[in-house]
Amino acid sequence: MGTLDGRVAIVTGAARGVGRGIALALAKEGARVAVADLLPADDVLADVAAAGGEAWAATCDIRVSAEVDAFVAAVVDRWGTVDVLVNNAIATAIGPLNEMSDDDLMLGFATGPLASAYFMRACHPHLRDGGRVVNLRSGTEQNGMPGYAAYVAAKAAVGGLTRAAAREWGRDGITVNAVVPFALSEGTLSALDEQQVAGVLRQLSVRRSGDPETDIGRAVVYLVGPDASYVTGTTLMLDGGGAFFS
Ligand SMILES: NC(=O)c1ccc[n+]([C@@H]2O[C@H](COP(=O)([O-])OP(=O)(O)OC[C@H]3O[C@@H](n4cnc5c(N)ncnc54)[C@H](O)[C@@H]3O)[C@@H](O)[C@H]2O)c1
Repeated sequence: MGTLDGRVAIVTGAARGVGRGIALALAKEGARVAVADLLPADDVLADVAAAGGEAWAATCDIRVSAEVDAFVAAVVDRWGTVDVLVNNAIATAIGPLNEMSDDDLMLGFATGPLASAYFMRACHPHLRDGGRVVNLRSGTEQNGMPGYAAYVAAKAAVGGLTRAAAREWGRDGITVNAVVPFALSEGTLSALDEQQVAGVLRQLSVRRSGDPETDIGRAVVYLVGPDASYVTGTTLMLDGGGAFFS
């Protein structure tokens, strides 16, 4: 028996990386997990099935609110409700701020705070009285990071969204929290060269990459599980001590 038996969870961007680890951790704890991604999620579905869990995936461009609404409706049609929402997906342009096009600037916002708000809005009626939301923030919000202005700004907006929704939705019986992970995911490895990876690892108190399932996913299991019903509006640092903020 798992602590999330009978719960229905949506995890965005769970075809790979941190989202995939979160999806696996939730499924192994008994949740039925719906994966919204642009990439095929066959591998994560196979891993969940091999672990005796239940998962479903559909292509969804989270930048488009009509696609988000249709995805949430499909999940409700399939499993009756949504109890847990994890806004994990991101895409971002990297480069000097002064060279960013309008589309570059928009990408992080569209896939970060806007997509998170679309999912939160669509899931709200189902999340009432016991639902949980977890949003993904970044340690770069604190200190900035050269070449990542669009990403940093979008992630800071996710922080604001998390705090504001936690205030509004506490009375609806919904907790809204965030996590700041560090993991050498496909996304991180494609953005950083070997030297940068070594530099980041040197800054950590725990000098290794987080494991998307056992380090990040298990902490999300806590936030969406029965032990965290009094935890809302907070940000849990899951980054080996790489950044210090809340
Ligand atoms: N990996 C880290 O160290 C780290 C650090 C800080 C914050 N984060 C946050 O954790 C989350 C996951 O990061 P990651 O490193 O696993 O990223 P990743 O790039 O490896 O994975 C992102 C996923 O989002 C999906 N996605 C992108 N655009 C989409 C769209 N329009 N519609 C649907 N899906 C889309 C991608 O297909 C991919 O599966 C992100 O929110 C990121 O900002 C990660």
